[in-house]
Amino acid sequence: MDVEIHDRIRVLIVDDVAETRENLRKLLSFDPDIEVVGAAATGEEGVELAKETQPHVVLMDINLPGIDGITATEHIVREVPTAQIVILSVQGETGYMRRAMAAGARDFLVKPPSGDELMSTIRRVYEIGKAQAARIAPPPSAVMGPGGREPARQGHLVAVFAPKGGVGCTTVAVNLAVTLQDRLGGSRKVAILDGNLQFGDVGVMLNLQPSRSVADLAPQIDDLDADMLTAVLTPHPSGLKALLAPPHPEAAEPLLVDDTGTGGGGGRKMRAILRQMLREFDVVVADTWGWVDEVTLTLLDEAVLILLVITPHIPAIKDVRQFMDLAGRLGYPMDKLALVINHADRPTGIRLDQIERALMPSIAHIPYDERAGAMSANRGIPVVTEGAGRPIAQAFARLAKTVSERLEELESGEEEEVVEEWASAETSRRMLGRIFGS
Ligand SMILES: Nc1ncnc2c1ncn2[C@@H]1O[C@H](COP(=O)(O)OP(=O)(O)O)[C@@H](O)[C@H]1O
Ligand SMILES: [Mg+2]
Repeated sequence: MDVEIHDRIRVLIVDDVAETRENLRKLLSFDPDIEVVGAAATGEEGVELAKETQPHVVLMDINLPGIDGITATEHIVREVPTAQIVILSVQGETGYMRRAMAAGARDFLVKPPSGDELMSTIRRVYEIGKAQAARIAPPPSAVMGPGGREPARQGHLVAVFAPKGGVGCTTVAVNLAVTLQDRLGGSRKVAILDGNLQFGDVGVMLNLQPSRSVADLAPQIDDLDADMLTAVLTPHPSGLKALLAPPHPEAAEPLLVDDTGTGGGGGRKMRAILRQMLREFDVVVADTWGWVDEVTLTLLDEAVLILLVITPHIPAIKDVRQFMDLAGRLGYPMDKLALVINHADRPTGIRLDQIERALMPSIAHIPYDERAGAMSANRGIPVVTEGAGRPIAQAFARLAKTVSERLEELESGEEEEVVEEWASAETSRRMLGRIFGS
């Protein structure tokens, strides 16, 4: 077993102005977890130093003599793929951001950044890089099952997310999970995880009386194993297993606090839980809440597919548009996001093709079904169970089919050709303008 020594975050600074380099170095020296491993004055030197020092994070200026920060970013992304690049630019250079993000930068800061901004950005991209590295080279424990007997599964996470509350995020997550269980249950293990740690209602929608919840894993977070996970899962009559939210909001606290002093309390713990779940299950569906906190970000990062749930209303569309921009800044590939339009048949005055042109093509249209909705929310009977044969159940069946086909493609390593593109921010604004009638 390798002992996990407390790794300092290795940072490389690239800026042509000596004073800026010194100021950054000074700011970073206040954080004992951060180590500045080098400082370069040109793009070329930055690339060389990155290869030499293998930093976790590179702080990159845009305007540099010789190759500029964007070109240097491209080189570093190629040659030191584990390095996470944060672009530093002065106000007004934000037009470069799209290019910088396209070149593979992880985040950006406006100069001069405050100490807090700088540290928290460095920590955040460092965490993303760590998660990425774990995906590229899973630790030995992830490859072998308990006792090293059988190879562990490497399941897929599907996150269901809606920036706007009340649009049916949990409804989609629950019904998708039950339908996937139905579809794949013979050969695959399916689970649902309630990522809304404080006010989760997956349990209510599945009519489960939980005796244990995700919070019970907090004390053992660093040595989770299959038995501990099994002990906190709640079985659903469909065969689905649910990892439910705690019975009251305060009980989530131990999962959210950072008790190691290494930063990233909620994110670190959720990542550990997810890793264990993906060792035990082929497919994990995660419900989330609409706030991109550390826990949600971890779920979104680790997901192979993010279903964005929306209803045909302007605020919901606007929020998803903003989320798409954030996804771009986080470096998510386009085909990681998929749009699900709920209440798709409601006459709201906005046509579905208008929404799709403003955002992206959708993979499912879920109709409104008042009776099924009420049964689901009040009696905990998923609409797909209650109303098999109803249009809403058929829509979920189609969604589950599409999702499982996507997952199969991932398993067979087939590269799906991305034919369609996201609408650009510009197209989106125009479309939204047209919908408003302006
Ligand atoms: N397609 C639908 N038809 C009828 N009712 C729905 C539909 N989708 C969601 N609902 C109902 O809307 C309410 C909010 O849904 P929920 O999934 O909790 O939203 P969110 O998780 O986005 O806050 C619930 O009462 C749910 O039963
Ligand atoms: Mg919800």
